[in-house]
Amino acid sequence: MQGGVLRFLCGALLLTQEPALAAGIDRQKWVLRRESGTNYACKCYPGDTCWPDSGQWQKLNATVGGNLQVDIPPGAPCYNTFKGPLGDVQTYNADECATVTANWTSEQFQVEQPAAALWTYFTNDTCRPTTNPTDNCTLGYYPVLVIMAKTVAHIQAGINFARENNLRLIIRNTGHDFLGRSVGWGALVINTHSFQDIKFTDTWQGASGYNGSAVTVGAGVQAFQVLKQANALKPPKIMVTGECATVGVAGGLVQGGGHGPLTNLYGFLADTALEFKVITADGKLTTANAKTKADLFWALRGGGPAAFAVIVEATYKTFDDQPSAGVSFDIDASVTTNATLFWEAVRVFHGHSARMVDDHGLYVYWELGTAGQNLHVHPIVGVGMTADQLAAALQPLYDDLAALGVRPAVTTRAFPTFYDLYEAMFESEVAGNSALTGGWTVARADVAANSTGIVDAFRTVLGAGSFIIGHMWSAGYGLPRAEWNASAVNPRFRDAVSKVITVVPVAGNAPLAEKAAAQDKLTNVVDAALRAAAPNGCAYVNEADPYQPNWQNAFWGTNYPALLKIRQKYDPDGLFYAVSTPGTENWTQIETDTRLCRKL
Ligand SMILES: Cc1cc2nc3c(=O)[nH]c(=O)nc-3n(C[C@H](O)[C@H](O)[C@H](O)COP(=O)(O)OP(=O)(O)OC[C@H]3O[C@@H](n4cnc5c(N)ncnc54)[C@H](O)[C@@H]3O)c2cc1C
Ligand SMILES: *[C@@H]1O[C@H](CO)[C@@H](O)[C@H](O)[C@H]1NC(C)=O
Ligand SMILES: *[C@@H]1O[C@H](CO)[C@@H](O)[C@H](O)[C@H]1NC(C)=O
Ligand SMILES: *[C@@H]1O[C@H](CO)[C@@H](O)[C@H](O)[C@H]1NC(C)=O
Ligand SMILES: *[C@@H]1O[C@H](CO)[C@@H](O)[C@H](O)[C@H]1NC(C)=O
Ligand SMILES: *[C@@H]1O[C@H](CO)[C@@H](O)[C@H](O)[C@H]1NC(C)=O
Ligand SMILES: *[C@@H]1O[C@H](CO)[C@@H](O)[C@H](O)[C@H]1NC(C)=O
Ligand SMILES: *[C@@H]1O[C@H](CO)[C@@H](O)[C@H](O)[C@H]1NC(C)=O
Ligand SMILES: *[C@@H]1O[C@H](CO)[C@@H](O)[C@H](O)[C@H]1NC(C)=O
Ligand SMILES: *[C@@H]1O[C@H](CO)[C@@H](O)[C@H](O)[C@H]1NC(C)=O
Repeated sequence: MQGGVLRFLCGALLLTQEPALAAGIDRQKWVLRRESGTNYACKCYPGDTCWPDSGQWQKLNATVGGNLQVDIPPGAPCYNTFKGPLGDVQTYNADECATVTANWTSEQFQVEQPAAALWTYFTNDTCRPTTNPTDNCTLGYYPVLVIMAKTVAHIQAGINFARENNLRLIIRNTGHDFLGRSVGWGALVINTHSFQDIKFTDTWQGASGYNGSAVTVGAGVQAFQVLKQANALKPPKIMVTGECATVGVAGGLVQGGGHGPLTNLYGFLADTALEFKVITADGKLTTANAKTKADLFWALRGGGPAAFAVIVEATYKTFDDQPSAGVSFDIDASVTTNATLFWEAVRVFHGHSARMVDDHGLYVYWELGTAGQNLHVHPIVGVGMTADQLAAALQPLYDDLAALGVRPAVTTRAFPTFYDLYEAMFESEVAGNSALTGGWTVARADVAANSTGIVDAFRTVLGAGSFIIGHMWSAGYGLPRAEWNASAVNPRFRDAVSKVITVVPVAGNAPLAEKAAAQDKLTNVVDAALRAAAPNGCAYVNEADPYQPNWQNAFWGTNYPALLKIRQKYDPDGLFYAVSTPGTENWTQIETDTRLCRKL
């Protein structure tokens, strides 16, 4: 982001002299540009001679059953005019404006829009609901056209069209992405939300040797849908999902890894994958599992979203649900207003992470600094535990806090199943925020060596105006060691006991210098402090700063070279793109984060 801004200030120029073209660059299909002394071959955008003409678009629309739409931002009904790249559209509608205004922060409302991003920073915060209809609604960094795919053939048609015409292609599932990877300026979108099939089996008959229970879900299925149906089975089943009920289970989550309250027991969602049905960059529908296209199967398990293929269906292990217990408490002004004491309490709490995770397999969701000087622990989850067992597991933490004089009011609850706990104790989340997101994991060795240094880093994060959303889990606790390398997630995750997301609030329509300063703060102050305090940690590609130094190693460690080869095998020409995924080193968005281009 910062790099893009600097390049913009240096000026963007059309090429006056054609550079020597790299092999494989067809002049009819690429737009040649030059910025800050570097030559680029760019994808095709509206206005470029290589942008398809209306006849080609109509043909595509017929192939996808009339499901091709002009992308109009969700706030457009509040404006008289949407000034899009394909022409003006009159959009004002008082009722629809009232609906979008009322639902702007509803995750599910935004999920159901064709191409909305829940975190608005990456749209340029464009076209927010307004009471001023004479303002113009503009496209910002949103894509231009959307295929609301209903069949595999529609996805194939979209992939083929984007490849043949060298368009930027975005796969959009729920739009939750923290890094803006489900939007992209000037792109064609394939929306997978209609792929809603859910099928359970008690005895999976697949290639892996596993013959237990499993579920096959379509690309658009969200966590709350599959968990609800699994709970209605007899006996009730569960599967690994994120803590957030509205995130998809077959899109970005599994391709990034996918951690959640069951990660201590079964690893990442990616670790529980049995098979994917995918469409590769050549437009072919194929199956990837432990026997067929095993390299692709491995890469799709945590190797990075939108990098290897489009998932149309995923099969995961399911597990018997168990009675579970949960705890919540706050350390805030209700407990102490003494800053020294507060940070001592945070140190004690975080110092217990390795013990809670390694000795008891507990999952902890916590927030630090979301409401000033506050630590909100909500919930700590003990799957398979009674309330008494969980209370006993946490007694050493309570004792150490009490020794400081900190006695938070603790709520302890027991439930017949984990699902009941999940429904009752996880708090709902909102859409519509504008922020940059970073994050880092902390290894058990770091907790042992540097408990105080880690909390000093947290203080640096909060001091910079950022806040923390934390999780504690161990991805190596319950999953047998022999299965660790079956997925592509960074092997260092198996040593993690704590993982934080850092959030740097910044308006998506802030002046460019302010955006650049926010990105600089995230990379060089906020996350830099965490990296220094926990040198054995790593970063989770779905919840981290894509512009951090050495992202290849931070996201995938020793797995990176293999992932790069698989990317080059399955998508040699860069049909897919998501920032800082394997093989994207030579790709960048020039001209202030707009045109996606390959360095020449
Ligand atoms: C409130 C909130 C809570 C979260 N909680 C957790 C959590 O507990 N655990 C966790 O691990 N993560 C969590 N996340 C992060 C989450 O993993 C990412 O946001 C993830 O990218 C969402 O994937 P999606 O498919 O639902 O969303 P999208 O934004 O639609 O897609 C994300 C990325 O995946 C690609 N993609 C989507 N579908 C496909 C497909 N079918 N084939 C190929 N590529 C595809 C997109 O192109 C994009 O690059 C959370 C995020 C939010 C906003
Ligand atoms: C695609 O076709 C449908 C049905 O005919 C039509 O409503 C829609 O406007 C078309 N899309 C585009 C982008 O022209
Ligand atoms: C949208 O808002 C209306 C009115 O507040 C509400 O009834 C409806 O459930 C909301 N829809 C969604 C998807 O959030
Ligand atoms: C909207 O765009 C038109 C040009 O099409 C321009 O004349 C007008 O000033 C714009 N309105 C605002 C409020 O910027
Ligand atoms: C994004 O917003 C900035 C103002 O914050 C504006 O200068 C720029 O033109 C916008 N970019 C796009 C693509 O809309
Ligand atoms: C499933 O696998 C187990 C262990 O490999 C084996 O004992 C069992 O017979 C298998 N069950 C079925 C139904 O194939
Ligand atoms: C704040 O807490 C610290 C650490 O317990 C203690 O030394 C100090 O006296 C307290 N300050 C006040 C004003 O109570
Ligand atoms: C402990 O953390 C501090 C930052 O808070 C860092 O400077 C130091 O190097 C860390 N020490 C170790 C042993 O990791
Ligand atoms: C897993 O992969 C890592 C990194 O490539 C390697 O160090 C380790 O030995 C592997 N472990 C197993 C069990 O194969
Ligand atoms: C990037 O481009 C350089 C120069 O052409 C090339 O050597 C390198 O392999 C490319 N990297 C990737 C990851 O494609």
